[in-house]
Amino acid sequence: MSSDETTETIAIASDHGGFALKAELKKDLMDKGYTVLDLGSDSLESVDYPDFGYALAGAMKEGKAKRGVLICGSGIGISIAANRHSEIRAALVHDALTAKLSRQHNDANVICFGGRTTGPEVARDCLNIFLETKFEEGGRHTRRVDKLSDPQ
Ligand code: RB5
Repeated sequence: MSSDETTETIAIASDHGGFALKAELKKDLMDKGYTVLDLGSDSLESVDYPDFGYALAGAMKEGKAKRGVLICGSGIGISIAANRHSEIRAALVHDALTAKLSRQHNDANVICFGGRTTGPEVARDCLNIFLETKFEEGGRHTRRVDKLSDPQ
């Protein structure tokens, strides 16, 4: 790895429904030079997605990673779990456009996939876009994202 490549830590977690896709995306991230904090699961054995969404949210709250990837069968349960934590803006994405908008408009810090709904090529494309796209800071998007931190 050359000195200008990233060593940022990306946290990643899944349940059994996301286990296979997690392995693919973890390898891609490592190939790109990221450090990967893998919070499980570690097999195809049936587990409960909230445990893994909470583990990733906890790791991010502790400052172990600034960005994360979560995967369950549909992506729905694990994104709901993560979004119960005020520091997390987890976006369930299905294509390049939703991946891009999750960053530009929502400043998402966690990207979520359905391991049973999104194939590895699409997920890889979405993850690259998520990692490379900047938040459109200032104006309406900042105002709206700020409101997410202060629910009424
Ligand atoms: C597990 O069977 C499945 O319910 C879970 O991976 C996820 O899709 C829940 O939202």
